[in-house]
Amino acid sequence: MKILIIGGGGREHAIADAFAQHEAAADIFLAPGNAGLAREFPCLPLRSNTEILDWCQREQPGLVFIGPEKPLAEGLADRLSEHGIPCVGPSQAAARLETSKIFAKALMAKHSIPTATYASFSDHPSALEYIRGQGKFPLVVKADGLAAGKGVVIAGDVDEACKAVAGFAKNIGPDCGIVVEEYLRGWEVSLFVVTDGTSFQTTPFAQDHKQLGEGDTGPNTGGMGAFCPVPEAEPWRNQIEGQIVSPILAALRAEGCPYRGWLYCGLMITSSGPKVLEFNCRLGDPEAQALLPLLLTPLREVCSAITEGWVDKLQLKWSGQSAICVVLASQGYPGSFVKGHSISISPRLGGRIYFSGVGEIDGNLVTGGGRVLSLVALGNDIEAARRKVYQDLDAVKFSGKTFRGDISRRNNTL
Ligand code: AMP
Ligand code: GLY
Repeated sequence: MKILIIGGGGREHAIADAFAQHEAAADIFLAPGNAGLAREFPCLPLRSNTEILDWCQREQPGLVFIGPEKPLAEGLADRLSEHGIPCVGPSQAAARLETSKIFAKALMAKHSIPTATYASFSDHPSALEYIRGQGKFPLVVKADGLAAGKGVVIAGDVDEACKAVAGFAKNIGPDCGIVVEEYLRGWEVSLFVVTDGTSFQTTPFAQDHKQLGEGDTGPNTGGMGAFCPVPEAEPWRNQIEGQIVSPILAALRAEGCPYRGWLYCGLMITSSGPKVLEFNCRLGDPEAQALLPLLLTPLREVCSAITEGWVDKLQLKWSGQSAICVVLASQGYPGSFVKGHSISISPRLGGRIYFSGVGEIDGNLVTGGGRVLSLVALGNDIEAARRKVYQDLDAVKFSGKTFRGDISRRNNTL
């Protein structure tokens, strides 16, 4: 059976690797993939949803797994479903949970799902007027719509909050909606949900490290590393499932757009319990690289349960080990950086490598993006996994290699 994975980053490499534990690599296609992925799996240069659909109609894959949010936002899942092609990933309407923060916040408010209190605005003058009337800072200012990680500003005072709105107007658009919300204190954790729209199961918790610098300093990035599981979050699982996961899935059913696929819950554990920071309509990157290597159930079975509607009967099994993912980035990321540095990988590498921003020049792998690749190691506990992953660092060399040395060192206390 042919499986097509849409995307070409470390997350998609981890997805392909999870499928490859039980399927032939030659049957696992990526579109577009990347030069590193192409050494293990066939990669297809499909550049648009139309080209993807054409390929699917010709090749009739048994399953399409959509990795990133953009094709979901553009309705790829709807188009594949119309043509009877089994697809993991929510419809365009259900993906609004990620693509519109205003939609997500309003749905949470309507169904009393715990999240930061907020106000939303469709025009910038009203948002600015509201911000000028606020006395309590910090405040969190968010742009509606997909903003590739650049749509959230934690503003320390009125001036910063107003500048955030001006920045969104310039970088995202003068008409983008604005959400202004309460600043939540606590510690962050991610939980992934497998759902067919009605039944659901949750996975082990994972924790991402979004800031560039050690000790959570510096600019926000797409994610500099992750680990899984997070034992400190376990006492909250029942409450999260009962007060957040179950009601948001019911809310989407009530809106006429049941959610099918993997749902990412970004949560803050606060002194008054877990609250939603955001929902994403996909697996996280780099969380997927730490989560999926722990999955024992064949990924194809998990996907069939989603597309065929038997998640209630799915036996989700996890290895019980811990996994850690350290991202190696280009110097300068998330700002501007130089591409084309040659990458050398020693055969001494003990763990796994998942490629993201890589290209090829004269048959050699070169850096081709901000986040270049991720290193992943497993161990019986997080410390064992950590030792292994950092031992692998010297096995991968490229000029300007940038990483955090403190992945998994978190103080998960209130
Ligand atoms: P989001 O894309 O909504 O997850 O926001 C990106 C990051 O901003 C989150 O991972 C948090 O670290 C931070 N953040 C977002 N909303 C809040 C909030 N209401 N209070 C505190 N931090 C927040
Ligand atoms: N790791 C954060 C994200 O995938 O959005």
